[in-house]
Amino acid sequence: ATTWLIVPAAGQGKRMGAALPKQYLTLAGAPILAVTLARLHAALPHARLVLCLDEQDRWFDPAWVPFAHWQRVSGGAERMDSVLNALQAIDATGDDVVLVHDVARPCVSTADVCALEQAATQHASGALLAMPVADTMKRESDGASARTEPRDGLWHALTPQGFRYALLCQALVHAREHDTLVTDEASAVEAIGHTPKLVSGRRDNLKVTHPDDLALAAAILAAQRE
Ligand code: CTP
Ligand code: MG
Repeated sequence: ATTWLIVPAAGQGKRMGAALPKQYLTLAGAPILAVTLARLHAALPHARLVLCLDEQDRWFDPAWVPFAHWQRVSGGAERMDSVLNALQAIDATGDDVVLVHDVARPCVSTADVCALEQAATQHASGALLAMPVADTMKRESDGASARTEPRDGLWHALTPQGFRYALLCQALVHAREHDTLVTDEASAVEAIGHTPKLVSGRRDNLKVTHPDDLALAAAILAAQRE
C-alpha cells in the first residue's frame, strides 16, 4: 500500500510576527520548510507528499522538495481545511496510510517518524506522536489558580499523526459538517468514536510558534547533529 504524507504549510505565522510566514525563516542555513521536508524524506523516502500552500505564497521553491512523488494543493482557511483539500486531491485507497506533519516541526527525528508510520499501519484507529505532560497543570479562574488538574494520563499531542485514508476523511468531513474547530487530526478521529494510539515521541519535537522558538530550534538541531 502507498503511504501518503500531508504537510500543511499554508499558515501565516501570525504569532511569529515576521515579515514572511515562519516556514520560510532560516534555520541552520535553510528554510524551515526545507529542513522539515528533508527530515521526513529521510524517514519516508517512498511516501507521496502533498504540500498545502497558500495560493498567494510568494516564497516557496520546488527545489526544497526531496520527494520523487509530490504535488501541491491550495491551503484553506484553517489547518483542517488545508488537510481536507489535500485528502480530496489525492487518488488514495481507503486502506492507504496517511501521515500528517506540521511544516513548523523541523526537529522531528527520523526514528519517531518511522515509529509513527508503523503504529499508524498497525492500529485501526491510527496513531499520533505525543509526550507525557511534565509540568503541574493549573485550572484558571479570573486570572487565579482555582485548582490543580491531575496530570496523570495527560499528553501533549505532536505530529506526525497517521490514519487510514478512509478514517481520516470520515473524521475531517464530520468535523467540518459539525463546525468543530479541530487543531489536530486525532481530535477529529476521537470525535467519531476512535481512540488513536499514543506513541511516545522525543521531547525535542518543538513546534516553531513564537520568535524565541527559533533559537531553541537551532540549538536542538545542533545538538541532534552532535
Ligand atoms: N496551516 C495550514 N493552513 C492553515 C493554517 C495553518 O496549512 N490555514 C499549517 C501551518 O503552516 C503549520 C500547521 O498548520 O504547519 C500548524 O499551524 P500553526 O503552528 O498554528 O501555524 P500558523 O497558523 O502559520 O501560525 P499562527 O497560528 O501563529 O498564525
Ligand atoms: Mg495557526
